[in-house]
Amino acid sequence: MSDRKVAIIGAGHIGSALARGFVETGKCRRDHLRATVPSERKARQLQEELGIQVLTDNAKACSWADVAIFCVKPQVLGVVLGEVANAMTEKTLVVSVAAGIHTRFIEKCLNKQVPVVRLMPNVAALARPTRSDRDVHWPLHKGRGRCVCQGPHV
Ligand SMILES: NC(=O)c1ccc[n+]([C@@H]2O[C@H](COP(=O)([O-])OP(=O)(O)OC[C@H]3O[C@@H](n4cnc5c(N)ncnc54)[C@H](OP(=O)(O)O)[C@@H]3O)[C@@H](O)[C@H]2O)c1
Repeated sequence: MSDRKVAIIGAGHIGSALARGFVETGKCRRDHLRATVPSERKARQLQEELGIQVLTDNAKACSWADVAIFCVKPQVLGVVLGEVANAMTEKTLVVSVAAGIHTRFIEKCLNKQVPVVRLMPNVAALARPTRSDRDVHWPLHKGRGRCVCQGPHV
C-alpha cells in the first residue's frame, strides 16, 4: 500500500487506530496518509499525536487520496458521502468500516461507479497486525474493478 495515498475520514477510535497501524507497520508513509475530524482543535491534537496531516475538510482529503477509508459512525456516513461525492474519481478505492451499511448504500450516495470494500476491524487494530490489514490487502494491490470483501466478521 506504500505508494498509495490514503485518507481516513473520521479519525475516532477505529480511524486513528488504523492510521497508527498503517504508519507503525510501514504499510503507509506518513506523507501518504491523511485523516479528518470535524473540529479544528481535535485536528491539531491528532496531527501532533499521529504525525500525519489531519484536516477538517473531507472533500479535500478525498480528492487527494487514492484510497478513502470511511470510519465515521453509520448514522453520519450518508451525509459524509454526499459531501465528498464530487471530490472522488472512479479510480478512488472506497473502504467503509461502518457496521451494517451495505456497499449498495455507499454506491448510491456517491452516485458513481467506484470500487467499494467493506471491512470490519476490531479493537485488535490497536495491536497490529489486524485482520482488516489482511482483508484489505488484495484489492489495494489489484486496485481495479468493483470488489466486495466479506470476511467472517462482516
Ligand atoms: N469501535 C469499534 O470497535 C468498531 C469496530 C468495527 C467497526 N466500527 C465502525 O467504525 C466506525 C467508527 O466507530 P468508532 O468507534 O471509531 O467511532 P468514533 O470514535 O466516534 O469515531 C468517529 C469519528 O468520526 C468523526 N466524525 C463525525 N462526523 C464527522 C464528519 N462529518 N466528518 C469527519 N469526521 C467525522 C468523529 O469526530 P467527533 O468525535 O468529534 O464527532 C470521530 O472522530 C463506525 O461506523 C463503526 O460502525 C467500530
